[in-house]
Parts: sequence; C-alpha cells; structure tokens
Amino acid sequence: MNILVVNGSPKGELSNTLHITQAFLEGLTAGSHDHQITTFTVKDKHIEFCTGCFHCWSHKDGKCIFKDDMVEYTELYKAADLIIFNTPVYYFGMPARLKNLLDRTLPFHLPEIVDRKEGGQRHDYRWDVGNKKIVLIATCGFYSYENNTEPLVKLFDICFGNACEKIICPEGTLFSLKVFEKETAPYLASARKAGAELAHDGRISDSTRQELIQRTFGVEDYLVLANNNWVKTDENTTEEEKKRLTVRQRIHQMPALFTGIPFTEVPTVIEMTFPALSYTCQMQMDASRRQVTEDASEFLPYHLRMVMDADRFISISAVRVNQKKGGNAYDPRKLAEFALRLQKMGARKEIKG
Ligand SMILES: Cc1cc2nc3c(=O)[nH]c(=O)nc-3n(C[C@H](O)[C@H](O)[C@H](O)COP(=O)(O)O)c2cc1C
Repeated sequence: MNILVVNGSPKGELSNTLHITQAFLEGLTAGSHDHQITTFTVKDKHIEFCTGCFHCWSHKDGKCIFKDDMVEYTELYKAADLIIFNTPVYYFGMPARLKNLLDRTLPFHLPEIVDRKEGGQRHDYRWDVGNKKIVLIATCGFYSYENNTEPLVKLFDICFGNACEKIICPEGTLFSLKVFEKETAPYLASARKAGAELAHDGRISDSTRQELIQRTFGVEDYLVLANNNWVKTDENTTEEEKKRLTVRQRIHQMPALFTGIPFTEVPTVIEMTFPALSYTCQMQMDASRRQVTEDASEFLPYHLRMVMDADRFISISAVRVNQKKGGNAYDPRKLAEFALRLQKMGARKEIKG
C-alpha cells in the first residue's frame, strides 16, 4: 500500500498527534513489508496561499498559477492509496497552513457544480481518484468534543464522505511527555488496533472506535494537569524565579498522577524541598484528598522528604517520549507508592535527588 502522511501540525516532528499516527501506522503495517510510507510535513513546505483567481478552472490545462510544493503534493496524492491527515485542532478546525493546502487542491476538481445525492453540491474530481482511503487523526487540548471538534469532523465528512475514517483524541497535549506514558498507553494500543483493522478489513471496528473516544485522564485530574501547565514570565523574571515557578507548576501537577493509589484515612505526606530556591512544599494525600500546600503552618510530619536540585527536577519531569539524550524520566507514582509504604510502616525517610 502506498501511504501518504500529511503532517499538518505546525510543530512538525514535535507534534503530539504524531504519536497516535505512528501507533496507527505500526498497526497498519505490522507483519507486512509491502507498504511505502511518505510523510509530507506541511510546515516545511513552500505553499503559496490560494488567491482565488480561478486560473485552474479557466485554463484548459487545469493548473495553478503557482509552481511550488503543491506540485510535489499533487503527485504524492495521486499515487497514494491511503492518505493520513495528522493535525491538531486549532480554533475548532485545522491550522491555517493545512487549510491552505486543502484550498490549493482546487485544481484537483472540475469547475462544474453538481448536486450531491445526500444534499448540497460538489465539484467532481478532475481525475479518477480510485479507491483512496482517507484517515483523519487529530488531537485537541480540551477534554471533550462538544462545541470543539465538530467543525473539523464535519469538514472532513463533507470533503471525503464515507472514504474517511476519523480518530479524534481529546487531552492530546499529554502524548509527547514520558511522564504520562502509562496513561496514554491504552489509547495508543487502540490506535494500533485501528491501524491493523483498517489494513485487514478496510475499516475501523465499532468497538475500537468506542475505545478511541475514551479520555486518557478523568476530567478533574486533567484540569489539574492542564491548568498548572503555564509558567507566566516576562522580561523582569529572573532565572531563579523562572525555575521556582516551573518547579511549583510541576509539583502542583503531580497529585493528578496518583489516581488509583490506595491512600488511607491517615495522610501520606511527601515533602519536597529545593534548598537553592528556598522553596519547600508538601503533598498530602489521604483516601479522599490529594493536595499540595506551601503554607508551613499546614505542614504535617512527612513520610518521604525529597531534597532536590531544581535543574535536575525540571529536566527529568519534562523528558519527551522517544527522547534519546537524558531520556530517564522519573515516575512520581513510584514516589507516592513508596511514601504510602513508609506511612503504613510508621517510618520516614529523606532522599537527596
Ligand atoms: C492556536 C491554537 C489553537 C488551538 N485551538 C484549540 C481548539 O479549538 N480546541 C482544542 O481542544 N484545542 C485547541 N488547541 C490545542 C491543540 O489542539 C493541542 O495542543 C494539540 O494536541 C496540538 O497537537 P500537535 O502537537 O499535534 O500540533 C489549540 C492550540 C493552538 C496553538
């Protein structure tokens, strides 16, 4: 199969969505070498904006006035059996450069307006497109589809109809960081399965589609992660203050990763201290609450105290998936499980990290 991946993320290789696309491709191509995959990274291409001149419709050759990277795209599109659009949701649709690429496919179509049997009108393809299959793989930052992803989905439905399969992943922001690998693994496994089903049956099964609308995190935890993700600085912010803000933000995210750890009625307490920043806080977890406090008057006797170097903490908590250099991420869940064990034993421990 000739597969074209159109990577429409302005982040290129750093795209969150690309992790899902890669898993889908793994499933699709597993056990067969009979596939050729070409990636067309839109952000790296020179594609002029459509000017609406209709040269392609008013000249017999049906060509665009611009001789840019759309020439390459046109050939790749014609040759492909399967086209995968990898895109983030931007303003409920797609990023402008990807939309422009679609606009520039006007020469793929004939000028005559014909009625669609399902309602509305269309412009037929200029050439025989054969049995091309289209897959839309998108991630978005919100945790739900409602009043969010519908315009993108509708656009692909109108453009490609039944030929289009869709994988739309909420909470997509999590897929690039190693610290979330445990939570994102089931979704990636479902994406792999979807790829295998498409290769085998020509469609994604209803049960796999169902898996692919599941969230990675519960809403409450996701909001803790997402809303603590912003370190706001300006030109007056010192390096030390920036570090302090980053450390704070990462620690406030940590309890969201402790879902499923069987904390007891007695609080389990992890104290984190960063001597160079003069910053100390506590995570206090019990059966009904997981909270971070920086107010020393609320501190409880700790079970696990971490004396940390800020630079190291910042770097290990931001390790990206597939990162080769310095790729050893820490696992906050292990710290919490260890602290819980200490609490149950009535013990306490200090670790320098
Ligand atoms: C300009 C901009 C607009 C965005 N608009 C939306 C949106 O409308 N809905 C949403 O849920 N997320 C939105 N997001 C978040 C992205 O969809 C999300 O971070 C996605 O995972 C990025 O994917 P990528 O890394 O593959 O580019 C927006 C992000 C940016 C930068």
